[in-house]
Amino acid sequence: MDKLLIEGGLPLLGEAAISGAKNAALPLLCAALLTREPLTLTHVPRLNDVDTMLGLLEQMGVRIFRETGSGGDTVTLDASGLDNPVAPYERVKTMRAAILVLGPLAARAGEAKVSLPGGCAIGARPVDQHIKGLAAMGAEISVLHGYILARAPRQKDGSVRLSGARLFTDMVTVTGTENLMMAACLAAGETVIENAAREPEVVDLADCLVKMGAQISGAGSDVIRIRGVASMHGTTHRIMPDRIETGTYLCAAAATGGSIHLTGASAGSLDAVIDKLTESGCKIAAEADSITLAAPQRLASVSLRTSPYPAFPTDMQAQFMAINAVAEGTAVIRETIFENRFMHAVELIRLGADIKIDGNTAVVRGVAKLDGATVMATDLRASAGLVIAGLVAEGETVIERIYHLDRGYEHLEQKLTALGARVRRLR
Ligand code: UD1
Repeated sequence: MDKLLIEGGLPLLGEAAISGAKNAALPLLCAALLTREPLTLTHVPRLNDVDTMLGLLEQMGVRIFRETGSGGDTVTLDASGLDNPVAPYERVKTMRAAILVLGPLAARAGEAKVSLPGGCAIGARPVDQHIKGLAAMGAEISVLHGYILARAPRQKDGSVRLSGARLFTDMVTVTGTENLMMAACLAAGETVIENAAREPEVVDLADCLVKMGAQISGAGSDVIRIRGVASMHGTTHRIMPDRIETGTYLCAAAATGGSIHLTGASAGSLDAVIDKLTESGCKIAAEADSITLAAPQRLASVSLRTSPYPAFPTDMQAQFMAINAVAEGTAVIRETIFENRFMHAVELIRLGADIKIDGNTAVVRGVAKLDGATVMATDLRASAGLVIAGLVAEGETVIERIYHLDRGYEHLEQKLTALGARVRRLR
């Protein structure tokens, strides 16, 4: 298994280009299932999760054409031959987002067999809201041998199609909202999703669906209305910049006392993160598609609480724990989205951080320095927190199990190296 060796202590300086967003790319790839015509996506990041999703779609009968370019890949998906609406356990267990095929499959193929994701490192993460929503749209659902089986109802006109419905999710769920929004595109009648996720990735997906002929309004608010159409068509869509990758590089520069310029980045979707970095003493300037950050000599600690968008994202919590580990003062971090999402804390403590965990609250007392050590990555964003800590720590830090990072950060070592970090992959 690959490891990452970081020699810490150097400030990040220079420029890096931000990739297309993983969390937008995954649902957008699934949107191809909704039409017989080709869907072309540009600025697709080269990530293991994208490969996993493409492999899954290919297994279902989707033809895939991938061109490598300097600003991410261009991927064309042709789902005219969709003949196997099944997502097997082997795929879903490595990537929970595979659940995103459920809605589009039930909508277009009229049936779907998708493995339950099971537990994952950051908590139970059930998919009951996805199932509840599809059931409200008339799907006949059963759960058998670890698989969700969904079948669309027969309509009065004889067609097999989901029915539009009023949906309310018990909590804000991002992939739940995306799954139900995609399912509703081809349903008979109008669907209203209340308590919808407002994340920018939901909006990016809605924008593409509208270009494909869907009738959607309200994406970006907590009530999304979808008027079902009989069929959708192909289009070309550029994937939005990755706001979590952007935030991670900003944090890495902030923690190392650096100064960076991120191109192809959008500050509009990062208000909560930029606000906290400013509070910590960083100077940030945002332009239409770039962000510049200059860090102070030493950061001030910043307390935060994770919540659904537009509040502070749970996917940036680990990175801010790393920042706070070396900041001046004491920070209180509350995680309200996922239970068990503090696994990076014990690893940061191995590097010399002073962190106390009590339930969903972490109290981080900033220390003057961290010391390199061997640590283990436990999930994607936890790993990003450890990379930041490794860049700050004195001496060598070895991060084990970096396959988590390969799921979500395109060309991480290359980008960090170009910014002056000493980072090497050990195979
Ligand atoms: C998405 C993101 C992930 C991010 C998360 C929260 C993708 C591919 N992944 O994950 O990076 O960390 O949003 O911003 O976009 N829940 C239920 N039942 C459900 C659905 C969710 O109980 O049916 C709970 C979850 O366990 C969690 C909370 O709702 O506690 C929010 O989860 P959700 O927004 O669904 O996360 P994901 O969409 O899986």
